[in-house]
Amino acid sequence: MKIIEANGARMPALGFGTWTLNGEQCVDMVSKAIQTGYRHIDTAAKYENEEAVGEGIRASGIARSEIFLTTKVWFTDIAEGALQRSAEASLKRLGVDQVDLLLIHWPSREVSVEESVKALNDAASRGYARHIGLSNHTTSQMEKAVQVSEHPIICNQVEYHPCLDQDLVLEACRKYGMALTSYCPLYRGGELMSHPAITGPAEAHGKSPAQIVLRWHMQQQNVAAIPRTSSPSHMEQNFQVFDFELTQAEMDAIMALRSKGDRICDFDFSPDWDQA
Ligand SMILES: NC(=O)c1ccc[n+]([C@@H]2O[C@H](COP(=O)([O-])OP(=O)(O)OC[C@H]3O[C@@H](n4cnc5c(N)ncnc54)[C@H](OP(=O)(O)O)[C@@H]3O)[C@@H](O)[C@H]2O)c1
Repeated sequence: MKIIEANGARMPALGFGTWTLNGEQCVDMVSKAIQTGYRHIDTAAKYENEEAVGEGIRASGIARSEIFLTTKVWFTDIAEGALQRSAEASLKRLGVDQVDLLLIHWPSREVSVEESVKALNDAASRGYARHIGLSNHTTSQMEKAVQVSEHPIICNQVEYHPCLDQDLVLEACRKYGMALTSYCPLYRGGELMSHPAITGPAEAHGKSPAQIVLRWHMQQQNVAAIPRTSSPSHMEQNFQVFDFELTQAEMDAIMALRSKGDRICDFDFSPDWDQA
């Protein structure tokens, strides 16, 4: 397993995303993922599955200390006081004393980055989180966050896949020693999986298109990825991406797809994204 070192944190580069998983299926998939070898689990208060994620971790039989657990505070709860209460409620639902990483899920148009990051720092100082980070923050918001944060900020979790150019955010992450954690790393499947830049290497390496896309993430410096699946076989397959290597030509051909500039997660509350 590749480990990313980011501002003092050690984060497994490949994690298991849990958005849309709920109830028994979530318990079962989280437990199976950990038994398969995943050591990084991603959830959020907004996913309404933290109880099941916590139960899945306990059911796996693997010690809590072996697992890098991330949760997030929804943007309506990131004001001073509200953020700390949200984090505390997440810990209760997860059944843990501390998460490994607490993220601000989205910036808010009502609460400044300074205020939310100070509240995030307070949550870390109270011991709710071992590390803190951002999600869906632009490069100027990253800069503000780094300026006011006393605890190191270890990542920005953003949408990243072969069809979206994130060079500016990647560059900022490297400048601040942060990891970029890719969400929607598989572009949620679809037509990307049948593009020749993906199917060519899949045939050449005897791997699936999803494995090629995940390997593309793993071969980039400071990049982690948290694919989601409700299928046990996809979950196992997505973990088997450390036994082959894409050539530079294959990496470049996949990089060239970024001109599409397709963003899946864009909402009326999104920040003004960096323009690539
Ligand atoms: N911070 C944020 O704002 C934010 C936003 C979105 C997501 N996230 C996080 O990122 C995680 C992943 O993002 P995502 O769920 O949006 O998208 P994703 O991981 O790119 O795509 C998930 C889709 O890919 C399919 N899939 C997975 N493995 C596959 C395989 N081996 N072969 C074929 N299809 C496969 C899944 O279908 P099957 O179930 O059929 O396998 C599912 O429909 C989420 O679970 C969440 O933890 C964070």
